[in-house]
Amino acid sequence: MTAKLMNRMTAGAALILVAALGATAGALAAGALAMLLSTAAPDLALSSNLPWYITRAAGVTAYLLLSADAILGLGISTRLLDRFVSRATSFILHEWLAWLALGATGLHIVALLVDTVQPFSFADILIPFAATYRPLATGLGVIAMYLAALLTLSFYVRGRIGQRAWRTLHYATFALFVLATIHGITAGATQDLGWMRWIYAGSAGVVGFMTAWRIANGRRVARRATTAASTTVSR
Ligand code: HEM
Repeated sequence: MTAKLMNRMTAGAALILVAALGATAGALAAGALAMLLSTAAPDLALSSNLPWYITRAAGVTAYLLLSADAILGLGISTRLLDRFVSRATSFILHEWLAWLALGATGLHIVALLVDTVQPFSFADILIPFAATYRPLATGLGVIAMYLAALLTLSFYVRGRIGQRAWRTLHYATFALFVLATIHGITAGATQDLGWMRWIYAGSAGVVGFMTAWRIANGRRVARRATTAASTTVSR
């Protein structure tokens, strides 16, 4: 599957993908490092808090990637992106961003599992609302994680279920974005920081605006996007 994708990629798409991968790795490393450096804690406290810092940095990274992917998806369905980048490239990036977001989410929850300050069990991270720590907020995160996994895997059954069913399933992206936003704001501590508030407001603003644009332009755009998608990417 990966080889097939790579064959279809243009040099430009490969470059953008490498940049996205580098940005993800860099964001994770920078996030963890920045949080470490901004805390004047003794060495012991730093090491015992490390999983918590990683959880937070990975959570923010996962949210940024999810937002970027939602915006990219809306750019594809509204055809706004067509003048900047080919549809084949957009589709490949859409799929890869979904995987990167899922990977960051994986790191987010693995760090919770090894955290000794606020320990989480497998049940806490797998069963919605089972955790004793902010059960509603974490429960929404668990549902968001399942939706993210479902939507990412749905890329590989598009040929089997058909473009129309796939697109209907893809509407769950809106639920995923809303759940992830509420989860981030209610579960995390970073919303107290000005820059994080801007990230939540900016992401929600862009996604909300593009969704409204997409609804206003209605079926005409959807029909053209469906036709173009099935001819551009055939699985
Ligand atoms: C798509 C899935 C998810 C995304 C995008 C996501 C994103 C985020 C974000 C942005 C934060 C805020 C970080 C901060 O402000 O410091 C956060 C916090 C948190 N998330 Fe998630 N999350 C997801 C899934 C999960 C899952 C499955 C769990 C498991 C129960 C979870 C547990 C937590 C916890 C406990 C916090 C609070 C960390 C702290 O103490 O600040 N998240 N998440």
